[in-house]
Amino acid sequence: MASDFEATRRLFHLPEGVIYLDGNSLGPMPVAARARVDACVKDEWGEMLITGWNKAGWMEMPARLGDRIGRLIGAAPGSVVLGDTLSIKVYQALASALELRPGRKVILSDTGNFPSDLYIADGLVRSLGGGRELRTVAPEAVEAAIGPDLAVLMLTEVDYRTGRKHDMARLIAKAHAVGALVVWDLAHSAGAIEVDLAGADTDFAVGCSYKYLNSGPGGPAFIYIAPRLQAQVRPALSGWLGHEAPFAFDLDYRPGQGIERMRVGTPPVIQMAALDASLDIWDMVTMADVRARSIELTEAFIKAVEAACPALTLASPRDPAARGSQVSFRHKEGYAIMQALIAKGVIGDFRAPDILRFGFTPLYTTMADVTGAVAILKEIMGGALWDREEYRRRARVT
Ligand SMILES: Cc1ncc(COP(=O)(O)O)c(C=O)c1O
Repeated sequence: MASDFEATRRLFHLPEGVIYLDGNSLGPMPVAARARVDACVKDEWGEMLITGWNKAGWMEMPARLGDRIGRLIGAAPGSVVLGDTLSIKVYQALASALELRPGRKVILSDTGNFPSDLYIADGLVRSLGGGRELRTVAPEAVEAAIGPDLAVLMLTEVDYRTGRKHDMARLIAKAHAVGALVVWDLAHSAGAIEVDLAGADTDFAVGCSYKYLNSGPGGPAFIYIAPRLQAQVRPALSGWLGHEAPFAFDLDYRPGQGIERMRVGTPPVIQMAALDASLDIWDMVTMADVRARSIELTEAFIKAVEAACPALTLASPRDPAARGSQVSFRHKEGYAIMQALIAKGVIGDFRAPDILRFGFTPLYTTMADVTGAVAILKEIMGGALWDREEYRRRARVT
């Protein structure tokens, strides 16, 4: 294995006494992010003021960092750009894909998709009207539901709750065979598993940078469009920074070159500085090594939890090839159990109605973390330490 995960772990700030198994929700802080953000604030914003847009390369950052992320998801340079939140990028990708299939009415998704993606699709269908329809089926029924009326297949590759992974290449081939386009949400894929957007012939993809890519809370999302489609895409959110010449201040919109047209407005420069620091760590590893280590960690975790905590039921696929980089267990008191774990320094999260979710991120998760977390989980389950009123009280974010 060429990737040195002991070296990468040292490049993260991990609080003392904490075993962090929630990088699938919010990645920890790269040590260098603090200095990079500080330099961005002090030397660039502070000293350069507005000239930073040119002098510090702020305006190029969405495309430059997009290319850095592109390397991790099999995207050619010039096909990924950053900005906005993932929900906005879902809207943009879906709206553009629908416009490219004017005669067709159906968006197909699944009931395992992240609710925001479904809400966005529903809102878009309502505003476009014209008989368009969002159809959702069970994840296992997606392939059979692909038919000649399909405009866009819109899926999240790795299920946020269970970690179940769709067969992306197979579903793309099936959708393309009926003349439909595909939009993939890579929120739980980018930095988690090997993704080959170009090889699988994806049309559109979107994802976030604050989970496995460690850009910090509120870090920008990314969007990918296959190079063969970029010139045909007319952005629905036609903001000024997606214009061919933003500083011409024309009254008419003309889409920018290639993927640049998917930019909307002013990008979050300070947050991108943090992401830039994180991507330096990503440059030290290959996704093949990350995936191999992730499978070792998740396999060990499943085996140990099942041996130590029989009351927990595995909610993730048992076959590592069929899951992402997270492992989920079910228990009707899952929320209280997770609060008890967090109180003892093991941070995962809870997803309603009954899912305990644990993310494994080889850049900083070790086998000792796996062993340590299972020992604490065993103690909590064995002694019913979760059974306290304070652990049942729901916080705003779970
Ligand atoms: C699969 C998936 N899609 C979309 C989103 C929404 O992302 P955002 O809050 O950046 O809009 C999330 C957030 O966790 C997600 O997991």
